[in-house]
Amino acid sequence: MKKVKKAVIPAAGLGTRVLPATKALPKEMLNIVDKPSLQYIVEELVESGITDIVIVTGRNKNSIEDHFDYSFEIEETLKNSKKDELLNKISHISTMANIYYVRQNKPLGLGHAILKAKSFIGDEPFLIALGDDIIYNPEKAVSKQLIEKYEKYGKSVIGCQEVPEEDVSKYGIVEIKQQLDDRTCEINDFVEKPNKEDAPSKMACLGRYLLSPKIFNFLENATAGKGGEIQLTDSILEMLKSGEDVLAYNFDGKRYDIGNKIGLLKANIEFGLRNEETKDELKEYLKTL
Ligand code: UTP
Repeated sequence: MKKVKKAVIPAAGLGTRVLPATKALPKEMLNIVDKPSLQYIVEELVESGITDIVIVTGRNKNSIEDHFDYSFEIEETLKNSKKDELLNKISHISTMANIYYVRQNKPLGLGHAILKAKSFIGDEPFLIALGDDIIYNPEKAVSKQLIEKYEKYGKSVIGCQEVPEEDVSKYGIVEIKQQLDDRTCEINDFVEKPNKEDAPSKMACLGRYLLSPKIFNFLENATAGKGGEIQLTDSILEMLKSGEDVLAYNFDGKRYDIGNKIGLLKANIEFGLRNEETKDELKEYLKTL
């Protein structure tokens, strides 16, 4: 079985739900306490053993490339002023993984963005981590959890969690075929954004996928689906229907959808309450409101 070493982070969406913040900045670069959400995701992947990451960028890609690049001015200044702790934090950003970029020249959908990474991935299983979903688990990164399930069962794995019934219409919802262990099941089908009456379960696909490279055959032949975009979920469904098993894994971790205003605020508050530098003052401040 091939080891999972590569990942794709799509970060070329327009981020219309958080405009005007995303007018000149990709939403993946929006700040959560002291770093952009994209850095949380790259760190999760590195913790999970991923060595090579391709970020699919759109317009305004410069801030992303600059962030993960070596910054001579900042690092020299920190070195000269002997701010070693901060220097380590900064130099770690440009050295933690091999990061590559590919451009999606038009935001034609998540499936289209993933297809741009085809030649980078080649014939290996790979992870997809959505640039606007931060998942917190200090014990075991969620990508690592998916890799372990892939290593156990040798099949593609979709990261899922149960969502409240009234929210099923916001997500891709899986139909469960059979339970393989307490957190993993085989699936028959899934439905993109169903009404709650039609939803086959409450298990929603949430921002992490570990897929066989066979997915590219289906993405190449995909046509625009819901919203006029090439959807990743449509191609996963095609792959499933071709006889390739796909598992849903109920991951352990707290997810923040920073692609909308309230998710971004919640992430800032909760990560602020976990951060040693900010937690006490923030707690006191929140009590005064
Ligand atoms: P979303 O649908 O949440 O992103 O895509 P969006 O299109 O930016 O959102 P709104 O509705 O306009 O606010 C999920 C992920 O896929 C990426 C996004 O950057 C996000 O990380 N994506 C989406 C692409 O890279 N390319 C696309 O064409 C669409």
